[in-house]
This record gives sequence, C-alpha cells and structure tokens, in this order.
Amino acid sequence: MAQSKTFYITTPIYYPSGKLHIGNAYTTLYCDVLKRYKSLQGFDTYYLTGMDEHGKKVETSAEAAGIPAQDHVDKIAQETKDLWALMDIEYDDFIRTTEKRHKTVVQTFFEQLLKQKDIYLGHYEGHYCMHCESFFTDTQVGEDHLCPDCGRPTQTLKEESYFLKLSKYEKKLHDFIVDHPDFIQPESRRNEVLAFIESGLNDLSVSRTTFDWGIKVVSDPKHVVYVWLDALTNYVSALGVLDQDPMLYDKYWNGDEVLHVVGKDILRFHAIYWPIMLMALDIPITFKLYAHGWYMMKDGKMSKSKGGAIYPEPFIHRYGLDAMRYYMIRELPFGSDGLFAPDAFLERLNFDLANDFGNLLNRSIAMVNQYFGGEVTQKNAPTDVDAALEKKIESTVQDYDALMDAYKPAEAVQVVFSLISRANKYIDETTPWVLAKDPAAKDTLENVLYHLLEALRVIGTLLQPVMHDSSQQLFKDLNVDEDATVFAARIYGFKPVYRVAKTVTPLFPRLDVAQELDALKSATTQEAPKKEGIPIKAEITIDDFAKLDLRVGVITACKAHENADRLLVSTVDLGEEKPRQIVSGIAGHYTPEAMVGKKVIVVANLKPVKLRGELSEGMLLAGSNDETLEVVELDRLNPGDLVK
Ligand code: MSP
Repeated sequence: MAQSKTFYITTPIYYPSGKLHIGNAYTTLYCDVLKRYKSLQGFDTYYLTGMDEHGKKVETSAEAAGIPAQDHVDKIAQETKDLWALMDIEYDDFIRTTEKRHKTVVQTFFEQLLKQKDIYLGHYEGHYCMHCESFFTDTQVGEDHLCPDCGRPTQTLKEESYFLKLSKYEKKLHDFIVDHPDFIQPESRRNEVLAFIESGLNDLSVSRTTFDWGIKVVSDPKHVVYVWLDALTNYVSALGVLDQDPMLYDKYWNGDEVLHVVGKDILRFHAIYWPIMLMALDIPITFKLYAHGWYMMKDGKMSKSKGGAIYPEPFIHRYGLDAMRYYMIRELPFGSDGLFAPDAFLERLNFDLANDFGNLLNRSIAMVNQYFGGEVTQKNAPTDVDAALEKKIESTVQDYDALMDAYKPAEAVQVVFSLISRANKYIDETTPWVLAKDPAAKDTLENVLYHLLEALRVIGTLLQPVMHDSSQQLFKDLNVDEDATVFAARIYGFKPVYRVAKTVTPLFPRLDVAQELDALKSATTQEAPKKEGIPIKAEITIDDFAKLDLRVGVITACKAHENADRLLVSTVDLGEEKPRQIVSGIAGHYTPEAMVGKKVIVVANLKPVKLRGELSEGMLLAGSNDETLEVVELDRLNPGDLVK
C-alpha cells in the first residue's frame, strides 16, 4: 500500500496571561478544521498546540496573582486544555515551554548558535516595550517613544545581551521568500514581510538579564533566552528534533506539508526570526505560513478586560458546539478581519442552521416517510432540474476541495451552504406535495426525494470537519454507513437505496433573538484585571503641567494607517481653521468607524511628527493597562474648548 502523505499543522503557543477568548480560540479551531479535512482526505496528520509559558509578562502576572510562576502556568494550561476538550479539538500534542523536552532543545540550539558565532555577546541600549517584549530603535519609537507595534510607551533600557545575526541571513531569507511565492499567505502579508526585510534587518537581542522566568543560557546563566526564540523552537522540540531517533521530526517536519497558522500580529516573528533561526541551525524550512486576520467586536478589539471579550463557553453551553464552530469558521474570511457579534451569531443560527440546513433535513426525511414509508431507491428518469442539482453537487465538491486545499475553510463552508440553498430551491421547483397527489408521478416523486437524500449525504460529508456532531446525526437520520461518508463517496448516486429514520430531532432550534441577546449579555463581560504596580513618575509643579495645551476635538474621519497595523489616522476638528491629522496607536482597540464622532482630548501643542510616513499633529489622550486601551471621551464640550 502506498504511504499516506503527511500533514503537520501548528497553532501559535498561547501566553498564559488569562482566560482565552474567541479570538485566541479561533486559531485552534481553524487548525482543527484543516486537520480533520486532511485526515478525511487520507493524509497522515499531526496537530500541535501548546503554551508559551516564559517571559517577563508571565512572571509579572503570577506575582500579581500571588502564586509561584509554575503554579500559575500549570493552572492556565489546564484551563486551556479544558477549553480545547469542550471545543472537541483533536490535537495530537500539547507542548509547554516549561517542559524539559523543550528546554533542552532551546539550550542546545542556543549553545550551537553561540559556538558557530551566529549569536554573539553585546550590549543593548534601546527602547523596550514590555508588552511586546521587544526592543526598538530611536527611529522606530519616534519622539513620543511609543512602541511601533502596539502604541504603548516604551522604557529606555541598557543591558548586556546576546544577539542573533539576522543581518547575515537577510539576503538568503529574502531570496527564499522570492523563490517560494506561497511560503507566506495571504500575498499582502508576504509583501509586508519583503518590504520589512528590504528596509534592513538589525541583529536581534535574544537574551535578557532583567528577570528570571525563562530558560537559562547554559554557558552564561545570568541570561535567560528571549521568549520568542524559546517559543518558536516548540515547533520542532515537540517533534523530538534532537532525539536519537527523531521519528516524529523525520516524518512530519520533513514530510509533505507543514503549516504554521498564526494571527497577523505575530507574523514577523514567524516569517523572519524563525526561518533565520532554522537557516542558522541548518534545519530545512519546510513550512508554509498562514497569517489570519482578527476577530473584532462591534466596538473594536477583543480584549480580556471588562466588557471587552467574548468567551466561547457560554455560547457552546447554550447553543451547542457546532453552532459556535460554524459561526467562528464562517465569519473570518481568508486573510481579513471578521466581526463576532452575538446578534449576528443568533441570526446565522436561525437562518443558516435552523432554517436552511436543519429544515432541509427535516423536510426531506419527513417526506420520505410520508410518501414512501421511509424507503427510496434511485430512479433513472432525470429531468433538467435534477441534472442541475446533480451538477451543483459535483461543482460544490470541486470548489470545496479547492478552497480547503488553499486553507480557506470560511469560503469552503459558504460553498456548502450554497448547495443547501440550492437543494431547498429544488424542493420549491419540484413541488413534491403536488406530485404526491398524482399516482402517475410516483417515480418522479421518488426520484426527487432520492436526489434530496443524496444532496444531504454529500453535504454531511463536506461539513464533517467543521460540524462533526451534526454530520454524524445527519448520517444517523439518513441511515448511512461509514463507507458512504468518505471522500470517494462524495458523488451523486453513490448510495443507491435509502431507509431513513422514522423521526428526526431538529439539528438546530429556532431562537428568539431579542430574548437570547438578553440572556447572552453576561457572556461578553468579565471582571476587571488586577492592577499592576506601575511606579508614579517624578514630581512636577503646576507650571510643568501648564505647559500642556489640552483641547477638545471631534473626530470627523478616521482610517487605518497603510503601513502599520496598530495605527489609526484620524482627522480631528479642534475648532481651528483647518482640521488636524493625528496618528494614534489604537488600531488594535478601535475600528476606524468606531472612532468617528468621538469627542476626545487632544494635546494640541505637541510638536508634529511623522509616524510611519503619516504626519501627526497632536496626540489623543487614552488610558490603558496590559490588556486594553480606552480613548478618553467627553460629552457636552465643543471643539477647541480647553481642558485644564
Ligand atoms: N505566545 C505568542 C505566540 C508564540 S508562537 C511561537 C502569542 N500568544 S498569544 O496568546 O498572545 O496569542 C496567540 C494567538 O491568538 C495569536 O496568533 C493572535 O493573533 C491570536 N489572537 C489574539 N486575539 C485575536 C483575535 N481577536 N482574533 C483572532 N486571533 C487573535 O502571541
């Protein structure tokens, strides 16, 4: 027998910084869907997920919780596994960076890179963003010393540090990306990475001496390995890359298809640092990288703080797992952001799942029972309408496969639902209840019902990776054996005879949206996070404060910054002749539409600067903590009014 092709798929490993929300859960679900699809296709699959448990942020949040860091990460790792069990995620391995099997690999790699002088000791003086755990240059942070990635204030730090020679591999990586057009997807992200490399790579600081919670550098233990170098290694440490007989590594890393799935915010780490590490270690770059967009809420970014995140559990408990899996997959198109809105969720449940899908199954089975005592056989008298449905089944399977093979489950699911609509329309076109009144049309009627059951069977097989339980229920209702649910069976006419169940329980109930929205309110909120002890800055006098000219402004327009994911460019009316343009690091927290109309406080006498090429003539005031950021808003004042 021919050896199956292999498919190795990975999620990012999650920070144990709190309860995971639907944004985090999305990546894991997406990988689960692809893994299930590939398994059905006959691939030998391996799915890795896990936790990224080191770093200053974790140390700080454990301190805030008043427990040892290891206890803290143990607790969150367990909660995360519980969530994956609830979501029926079929992962094969769950790696934790605090595990010995991982630490050893990180330490060995580090020493190897040191020995071959790809890592060297130097000093780092720069602007450090604690949130992103990254250093930035003067140009990157601009005059305001704001992190170019997240917009938060940076601190100036000087420390002894080891560096990885990114510059040495710059050209090689650039060539690799050019030579492998599908290495980074979607293409827009690939272009971003190429542009970033073309702007020149600085060597990367890859060790820290300012905290302890990390993997120690063996030859210089006052240093811990930079959390990203540590974390990225998980993709091969979990496969036992340095084992004497690295079976999993040989099979899956050096196998047929390897896919790292990441959110757009962590693209650079995976598209630049990770491949360079591999090049330096002489490990082949076998993976492809897909960077997906983000789930947003109606008023902006999802966050773990109060009122700012949606968690999967209440939806699953109340509406069932498949409704949640369907919505989460369906609403995030390839490469774009998506909206998670409870009302839209309920409406999809009603329209797509209860009306279109559930009803198609109920009606079809009810008619087979009513008109044929539950049993129908294929008849050979197809009409044009039948041929059209048969063709639709065929094209659906083709389109679906092409989309799934291109890692586009949202689009693939839409194709299946268009077949569901087509089958419902087929019922209207063929009017079985009219045919039933005419004894001469018995065969025609049987033929119609047979077509419906075949369409449903194929729909069930296509929906398996996303809605496993509902598909199984459907197979049970149709009384279909496993051999008629496999890949090769996805053709019209595969199953010649049906004996369906006598009754069916509706797959999805129809819901009262208003009533459910009330019930769901508590699902979108969570306690405020604990305050971290940020020291108060040095004392100032009232004269120091008086230097600030704070004014009320109204945002009249707002757009995303073309060259920076985290920045929004607002047009602000300060009651002056000409509105000002202000660039702010708030894109992760607000959509441009949500900003328009806000009455904000502007630092009006701040020296104008260019932020990633866009002029910024002032600054908006906002409050923030580790998780969220809120722009300060006013209500009754007018543009130009003073704030003192
Ligand atoms: N620990 C790093 C990853 C290291 S991988 C070697 C990390 N962890 S994280 O917990 O902060 O984020 C994990 C993933 O969740 C990222 O891919 C991120 O893009 C994703 N998401 C966080 N919020 C999200 C949404 N609102 N929507 C979709 N994905 C989101 O980064």
